[in-house]
Amino acid sequence: MANLCVVGLQWGDEGKGKLVDVLSKEYDVVVRYQGGGNAGHTVVVDGRKYVLHLVPSGILRPGCVCVIGNGVVVDPATLVEEIDGLKAQGVRVEENLLISDRAHMVLPYHKIIDKLADTEDGKPRIGTTGRGIGPCYSDKVSRQGIRIGELLDKAEFGKRLREALVQKNRVLTALYGAEPLAFEPLYNEFCGYADRLRPMIRDTVDVLNTYADQGKSILFEGAQAALLDIDYGTYPYATSSNTTTGGVATGAGLPPKSVGHVIGVAKAYTTRVGEGPFPTELQDDLGARLREHGGEFGATTGRPRRCGWFDAVSVRHSTRVCGADSIALTKLDVLGGMGRIRVCVAYRHGSEILKRFPSSCAVLRSVEPVYEEFEGWEEDISQARSVKTLPKAAKDYIRAIEERVGLPVSSIGVGSGREEIIRLPL
Ligand code: IMP
Repeated sequence: MANLCVVGLQWGDEGKGKLVDVLSKEYDVVVRYQGGGNAGHTVVVDGRKYVLHLVPSGILRPGCVCVIGNGVVVDPATLVEEIDGLKAQGVRVEENLLISDRAHMVLPYHKIIDKLADTEDGKPRIGTTGRGIGPCYSDKVSRQGIRIGELLDKAEFGKRLREALVQKNRVLTALYGAEPLAFEPLYNEFCGYADRLRPMIRDTVDVLNTYADQGKSILFEGAQAALLDIDYGTYPYATSSNTTTGGVATGAGLPPKSVGHVIGVAKAYTTRVGEGPFPTELQDDLGARLREHGGEFGATTGRPRRCGWFDAVSVRHSTRVCGADSIALTKLDVLGGMGRIRVCVAYRHGSEILKRFPSSCAVLRSVEPVYEEFEGWEEDISQARSVKTLPKAAKDYIRAIEERVGLPVSSIGVGSGREEIIRLPL
């Protein structure tokens, strides 16, 4: 069976977690390859809600091996809390979870600096999740980070932490006028995490390559989405990792050819959390209705999500950079009762019509969407389990998206539960 990569095609929160949960029953292994505790993957099983930040969404399938790859930045405090929360909900975690020894650790100073650096005149600059993601990846790239594997040797970890604190405390006090962090309590706290996580820390590059040699099937679970990718997203309004398919090779340690099939996940409309351009944003009652119908509030931060129409221009860009083979269209049920529905098919920029997604945020901020309009539907479609039973207007809308994006739709989400999905033969 070919491996599969599930990636977001918009600005995140497309429902990747639910899809990975549904598909994971067909795979031996699920791997997270980038991002960190900024992700909030919501999965509903038998009416019970699970929110996953670091643990792969395959964890709810007994027997599925879940791997946090080397490209993920791991906050041990978040991870231990998440493991405990899942265990309290009856999920077996430690038996099925492996954490890469090469994954970089998010330390408390990363979170403090993230929040301080993202504030300008009391307002958010990027609107990050405040989970320390950018500062942690910065340390990784500038070779100042501390990796999870270093927890295994407490004396060596202590030395590295002490060195790091000298520099970070200088930044905290001199640059931001913040309080310095004391070594002892931090060291003791992290030694506690070391004891908890030790049985799960492995050379996952070796483990995953061995699994691949044995012919095990692997599902790569992307976090965030293509429009937040550090290279292909709306930079600087992006996250700090390669959220696209390319991130698999560097973030899991398997060669690019191991990716296999790619499913791009897109909501039937668009949402965005944080700052940055969003051409199809609806800042009116319709946007508020989408937010309310769709429950569009951040799973990690609780922030209200900005809502707007489906944007075929940006999704086309995402499908190209991700090499998507098909689209998983999610939350189609939310559009019911919205009246006529719009899809952005191009951007008007001055006298020009742009069909390609511009790389410049300045351009993107000044474009006007060119829309096509479609009939809406009034029916509640959450009980539909086949395309045949969908209202004609919903079928026409799906077809329009396939044509405007240029890819087939392989599944349709009609609700948050595991069973509320229509899978289409390709
Ligand atoms: P960071 O990843 O916390 O640095 O945040 C950078 C940008 O990515 C901000 O606009 C966040 O709102 C956005 N972001 C990060 N993670 C997610 C996610 O899982 N869903 C949606 N937006 C996200």
